[in-house]
Amino acid sequence: MSSSRILLVIGGGIAAYKTLDLIRRLKERGFSIRAILTEAAGEFVTPLSVGTLTAEPVFRELFDLTQEHDVGHIRLARDADLVVVAPATADLLAKMANGLANDLASTALLAATSPVLAAPAMNPTMWAHPATRRNVAWLEAQGVAFVGPEEGLMAERGESGLGRMSEPLAIVAAVEARLRPAAGALAGRRVLVTSGPTHEPIDPVRVIANRSSGRQGHAIAAAAARAGAEVILVSGPVALPDPAGVTTVHVESAREMLAAVEAAPPVDVAVFAAAVADWRVAEDAVQKIKKGAGGPPTLTLVENPDILATVARRTEGRPELVVGFAAETENVLDNARAKLARKGCDLIVANDVSAGGGGVMGGARNTVHLVGSGGVESWETMTKDAVAEALVTRFAAALRPRP
Ligand code: CTP
Repeated sequence: MSSSRILLVIGGGIAAYKTLDLIRRLKERGFSIRAILTEAAGEFVTPLSVGTLTAEPVFRELFDLTQEHDVGHIRLARDADLVVVAPATADLLAKMANGLANDLASTALLAATSPVLAAPAMNPTMWAHPATRRNVAWLEAQGVAFVGPEEGLMAERGESGLGRMSEPLAIVAAVEARLRPAAGALAGRRVLVTSGPTHEPIDPVRVIANRSSGRQGHAIAAAAARAGAEVILVSGPVALPDPAGVTTVHVESAREMLAAVEAAPPVDVAVFAAAVADWRVAEDAVQKIKKGAGGPPTLTLVENPDILATVARRTEGRPELVVGFAAETENVLDNARAKLARKGCDLIVANDVSAGGGGVMGGARNTVHLVGSGGVESWETMTKDAVAEALVTRFAAALRPRP
């Protein structure tokens, strides 16, 4: 566990309630945190709750003599390995971009020499305003990193749009990416990911397909590459660009996907995120099937090879970590547990793809449950990118350390 020090600047927005959870999750991961509350932030969360969670004094006033004597705003800013601004309100971003220093938060931000990560949260109209656009562009050019904001329902009057603060785990992933890349958590590792649907031919022009977009699998491949892994992505037909820094192999059918997986070099982690068609047409026609006097054709289906089970049950060259996905519409956890045993994998990432699950297939967000031999962990709804980052962190932690 690292004891990297974070200076957390909490701005005054309703999203500050999520910052309490952020603190808890950062603490769980061993970070030490000192928090500054702006005056407005104090209207949304109390110094007592922040101080209880950080187990440190909470800093509020620029001219608090005891604290000035004790720490001083310059040292407060300089002592951190990373400054996290969450929620980064329009006001805080404007102060940062213009070098204002009229309270402790803005003064510390101006005095900070360590990298800054901002998690914006504001009304979508404020986020879209040219002044905010200009401030964000300028801050980005100075090296300030941003996580979010995200699309979604606002606290006020059911309004929705771009402006919600990212979920705590997404912010944690962004913090870890900066403070613990550990020369890349997956440096020196090889990762295989399957993604997207498969297309099973009926004849030269027709296929059996499914609604998978490949977004989650592609996001995992990209996140693993960012974590330093050598990544092989075996992708079914998707409308996504090949992720940067990833070797992408394009396939159509389940059998082609299996062949590409079998042809890949040995890997440390194999993640099967593809929605592989369970069946294919027993004999696909060489010529296009014509409408004829015989009426509609009857398609005889046969089962496709199970790529995940094939790899998980390898006696030689089995990856250290084999991860399957389960798309369920009911009894999500029971089915995932059964799948874990049936397929012989180490972890199942289960998601609820029923309508109540929020349009997972093709959508940008995902609600997942991690089902392993040790039990179940349910994550809050996050973007697929955030899920990917968090999963990759998990994979890295699950691997035996290299000597
Ligand atoms: N999988 C695979 N090869 C197949 C079928 C599935 O590699 N021929 C993998 C998927 O990539 C996923 C997991 O197995 O990781 C999903 O298992 P599957 O048996 O397809 O389950 P679901 O389709 O989720 O549900 P059901 O069991 O109800 O079919």
